[in-house]
Amino acid sequence: MLRNELTKADIVARYLPKKLIAVDQAEAFAPSNIALCKYWGKRQNELNLPVNSSLSVSLAHLGSHTQIRPATSGEDQVILNGQVLTADTPFAAKVISFVNLFRGQQNYPLIVDTRNNIPTAAGLASSASGFAALTLALNQYFQLALPDTVLSAFARMGSGSASRSVFTGFVEWRMGQQEDGMDSHAFPLDVSWPDLRVGLVKVSSAQKAVDSRAGMKRTVETSGLYQSWPAQAARDLETIHQALIDDDFSQLGATAEHNAMSMHATMIASWPPLLYWQAESVAAMQRVWALREAGVEVYFTMDAGPNLKLLFKAKDQLLLETEFPDLEVVAPFAEDSKTNLASESVNA
Ligand code: DP6
Repeated sequence: MLRNELTKADIVARYLPKKLIAVDQAEAFAPSNIALCKYWGKRQNELNLPVNSSLSVSLAHLGSHTQIRPATSGEDQVILNGQVLTADTPFAAKVISFVNLFRGQQNYPLIVDTRNNIPTAAGLASSASGFAALTLALNQYFQLALPDTVLSAFARMGSGSASRSVFTGFVEWRMGQQEDGMDSHAFPLDVSWPDLRVGLVKVSSAQKAVDSRAGMKRTVETSGLYQSWPAQAARDLETIHQALIDDDFSQLGATAEHNAMSMHATMIASWPPLLYWQAESVAAMQRVWALREAGVEVYFTMDAGPNLKLLFKAKDQLLLETEFPDLEVVAPFAEDSKTNLASESVNA
């Protein structure tokens, strides 16, 4: 952190009452999300302020459920998928330091109990949904009644992509320009595509050697190609916006795929090189391209890992399930996932 730089704690403190009053327990859900125009690179590390704006689609019911309740033992406890973690586990340490932003010096020992229903086989990151669900649950637990955009900015301080997981459907995260980052938050777009399907192709669920945070830092610092990224991302965001307005699936899919490949090009040109692909990733890309040649409208996107996420329409689901036998298919606009989560999360 640079001297005089605002800290996360300074910013959160502005939105809190002097004395926190907790309810008995609180629970919230937040979905995982897949970026169609990626966030890659930070202009400021402490607050996770991005170099570019991004746009994603949330994965409906796939995400994180987080419950917060008082720790009667007086000691904080972090539970992940039913397992009590020791305080030095990286996940537990991140959760506790995020909770500390809210409770400051006040004595509120807590149990934070998180369950991810993202199939581990899908190899999806859970930090986006995890930090979003934790932010929503803290808002409930301490009765903060903060606006959605503030919750999104807070979630962003946990993990950039978590800013988008506070909402369902298509979500845009504007990079913002304020020094305190409070204009760098996501908001939901008023578009619904009930026919859209996202297919998760599992290549590997092994822990990645270089996580997104370290990967984007290395890219910004060492990749000669990174210079071209902000302008490419800005163009892609515009094109995807237009595709949403025009109801143009081909334009959306093609732009998302091109955006992901451009991001990966900047990674590959880093030093040491960052190549998240495995041989099976390339084989899956080639299968997608062959299907497109044959007239099937399917596109892919990829994040900082070897797995592909396919974009296609409901009418092609059967065919794609045949082509990719382990495909996990999500309908982002399924009837039961339309509500805005920030106002939906409830006291348990
Ligand atoms: C490739 O949000 O995980 O998935 O802000 O450092 O926690 P931090 O990074 P993170 O990065 C996500 C990168 C990405 C693209 C995206 O989701 O937009």
